[in-house]
Amino acid sequence: MNRIFSGVQPTGNFHLGNYLGALRNWVKLQHDYECIFCIVDLHALTVPQDPKELTAHTREVAAAYIAAGIDPEKNIIFNQSRVPGHTQLAWLFSCLTPLGWLNRMTQFKEKAGKHRENAGLGLYAYPVLMAADILLYKATHVPVGEDQKQHLELARDIAGAFNRRYGRDFFPLPEPQIFGTATRVMSLRDGTKKMSKSDPSDYSRINMTDSAEMVAQKIRKAKTDPKPMPESLAELEDRPEAANLLGIYAALTDHSLEETVRRFAGKGFSEFKEALADVATVTLGRIGGEMQRLKADHAYIDGVLRRGAERAEAIAGPILREVEDITGLLRP
Ligand code: TYM
Repeated sequence: MNRIFSGVQPTGNFHLGNYLGALRNWVKLQHDYECIFCIVDLHALTVPQDPKELTAHTREVAAAYIAAGIDPEKNIIFNQSRVPGHTQLAWLFSCLTPLGWLNRMTQFKEKAGKHRENAGLGLYAYPVLMAADILLYKATHVPVGEDQKQHLELARDIAGAFNRRYGRDFFPLPEPQIFGTATRVMSLRDGTKKMSKSDPSDYSRINMTDSAEMVAQKIRKAKTDPKPMPESLAELEDRPEAANLLGIYAALTDHSLEETVRRFAGKGFSEFKEALADVATVTLGRIGGEMQRLKADHAYIDGVLRRGAERAEAIAGPILREVEDITGLLRP
């Protein structure tokens, strides 16, 4: 059986990178897999969160899933903290994860920065919780953006460590699904930096709730190089800003990067940017508007999340009990 698990942190400002790197692919995959889509609120707490905003952002991400086209009847949508098995399994995994594996995680190094001694244990242990998220459901596939690749390799290592320790083939080794032309959406102001949630420069990042004018303005102001549009894929190698914008266009229109390059070859950037602004404002306008409407409807969103948590628990509970039996934890 093929089962998908994936998630987004409710840290605010759901952005174009989250949409193109993850959500847009989930929408395509939902028909072929049993899918569990989580709002990973416990992961968000690895850095300080305002309590009221965490609640609001949790509803906002749920609204984004539905607005983007995830069917809440067919798929499970829930917030992580409602299913206690995530943290229980994370503890068991933390007892078989060598520190050396966690020390390799580049995202921890980036987030902790120079003040590593002050970084929280949660931030360090974060990839172990992520492995637990996936394996609590024995998920076989995990659709994510490029930046999560290393965390998924760790999840596979942890699954293998558990299977070896207890001498059985219990957990599947989850497969990353990283596909499309926008697996790593970069900042609009610097094509060498990832479009990120914490980037303070507003023009670097397109938020899904930005107005059409704002989206168009950010695209018009996006950094480009002085040459005309590239003529070939090979040219994209050392033109990161052009590569990023073309990748976004290709993803939004479901064309290949090659077709997109051919279409705009040799044209001026301003003509291309107008075309990109047109497609971006249509898609984002539709999703952003629906997201705003849904997130204000607390009764509806909370209902979806409650039902989702019950369905998630129904899958996780029996798996966790098997893990307890394998591990030797007594349930008197
Ligand atoms: P998060 O919340 O940072 O991002 C959510 C999803 O969006 C993708 N993404 C991007 N894709 C392309 N370009 C970008 N600039 C960009 N920024 C973000 C991410 O790759 C991700 O797919 N650790 C995860 C959440 C998580 C999770 C899980 C995911 C927790 N447990 C289990 C999968 C399975 C995270 O912080 O994603």
